Amino acid sequence: MPTEREILDHQIAYYRARAGEYDAWWFRQGRYDRGEANNAAWRADIAVVERSLADVLARRRPATLLELACGTGLFTRHLAPRVGALTAVDASSEVIAINRARVGATNVDYVEADLFAFDPPARYDCVFMSFWLSHVPRSRFDAFWTMVRRALAPGGFAWIIDSAHDPTSRAVDHPRPDAQAGMATRRLDDGREFRIVKLFYEAPELEARIAKCGFNASIARTTRYFLHGEARPSNAADAPAEPQSASSE
Ligand SMILES: C[S@@+](CC[C@H](N)C(=O)[O-])C[C@H]1O[C@@H](n2cnc3c(N)ncnc32)[C@H](O)[C@@H]1O
Repeated sequence: MPTEREILDHQIAYYRARAGEYDAWWFRQGRYDRGEANNAAWRADIAVVERSLADVLARRRPATLLELACGTGLFTRHLAPRVGALTAVDASSEVIAINRARVGATNVDYVEADLFAFDPPARYDCVFMSFWLSHVPRSRFDAFWTMVRRALAPGGFAWIIDSAHDPTSRAVDHPRPDAQAGMATRRLDDGREFRIVKLFYEAPELEARIAKCGFNASIARTTRYFLHGEARPSNAADAPAEPQSASSE
């Protein structure tokens, strides 16, 4: 039996090896093409999560944002133009290189680091994570949220986007994830296989789990594919101050 640390190292190795083919998942290409009806539903759900992210950033206007597990920049590209300064962290130099080339923004500072040993270098108005929380083992969930809390400036908030369970979200040749164990087998285009952590939550369950870590969470599910929403520290002293809107938005 591999140790948890070995599984987490395997998970890092998987995303490093997958860097060049990662975006096929998001754009429903190759093994992720599930037919036009499913692909259209996927795109409609993407539009929902991207719109709610744009809305919250327009409302709260965070000056500083920490993006955890930034990957190839599918969200960094939306975040960078909407904040003053962005720190984007990932364990893979390969995905960071793709992200940097895609986003090409001067306000993004990239940090290569293992998030399970990450000490936030500053306090941020927003901590953003997309498709990362589902890769945090149950045993490390609380410690992860302690780190998020340390990373938040007074009044700051976390924004989460992740997978809801739908059998057509994974590649056509990926075995069904082992929901009980919170593990999944992933295959690359060249056939190599990796075992990674993958936990699927329902929105109320995720809210309750984050609440146990000292946050008020409000998570919604899109029609099929995604969970998204915010978590604010529940300590009233840390309650976020919404900036006064200068005009109607
Ligand atoms: C599912 S991808 C999500 C990427 C991106 N946020 C997105 O929405 O496309 C997970 C990311 O986590 C990164 N990762 C995996 N293990 C990590 C670790 N221990 N510390 C930091 N990043 C890690 C991978 O390199 C990969 O970029």
